[in-house]
Amino acid sequence: MAQEIPGYDYGDESLPEAPYDEEDLEKLQAAVLFDEGDEEALREAGEVLEPQIEEILDLWYDFVGANDHLVYYFTDGEGNPDEEYLDRVRARFGQWIRDTCNPPYDQEWLNYQYEIGRRHTREKKNRTDDADAVSHIHARYLIAFIYPITATIREFLENGEHSEEEVEAMFHAWFKSITLQVTLWTQPYVRAGDW
Ligand code: HEM
Repeated sequence: MAQEIPGYDYGDESLPEAPYDEEDLEKLQAAVLFDEGDEEALREAGEVLEPQIEEILDLWYDFVGANDHLVYYFTDGEGNPDEEYLDRVRARFGQWIRDTCNPPYDQEWLNYQYEIGRRHTREKKNRTDDADAVSHIHARYLIAFIYPITATIREFLENGEHSEEEVEAMFHAWFKSITLQVTLWTQPYVRAGDW
């Protein structure tokens, strides 16, 4: 159950309202060419990915772990990773794959996007898990991660029973959703009025 994942606060009414609403979302979706066909493709992707979530997380964690400058954000800044922090975030990351594949997105979803964005910044990082780690993830890596988080998903999408054309549709829907979400997450990083 999602509710049992420590620190997973999707739908929690005590979360702050996002500074963007469903009208903003529609405009951003149009800007990344995201439409109802993508919603359908994402729901299909969710079924294909569900039994592979642990393998996907293994791959992403291996990638982060293989780069000192990336695993750095899970450390105290002196080379000591906070293992409990890594585990707790991993469980929420798995749930995020499910949430990504469960459109349509609404205001509640937007509020949690805002929360995820803040959790990457000094406003909120570490607080959810009482982690002993550096206080802020630099925006440049959030944006750069769009590529690995997208490119690596294709092989998992290919493991379902879908045609090449359907895999392509799921892949593009995923790519658009990740671009959209990272865009939302950058809001707390950008100077007031500039986002
Ligand atoms: C938290 C996804 C970029 C490090 C999270 C969570 C998700 C996520 C789903 C958990 C949200 C929750 O609390 O429910 C992503 C995606 C990224 C991205 C999709 C880019 C496409 C990065 C980068 C780093 C990073 C570049 C640094 C190497 C972390 C850390 C947390 C976290 C340390 C825990 C934050 C906290 O203290 O609450 N990320 N992330 N993430 N991510 Fe990312």
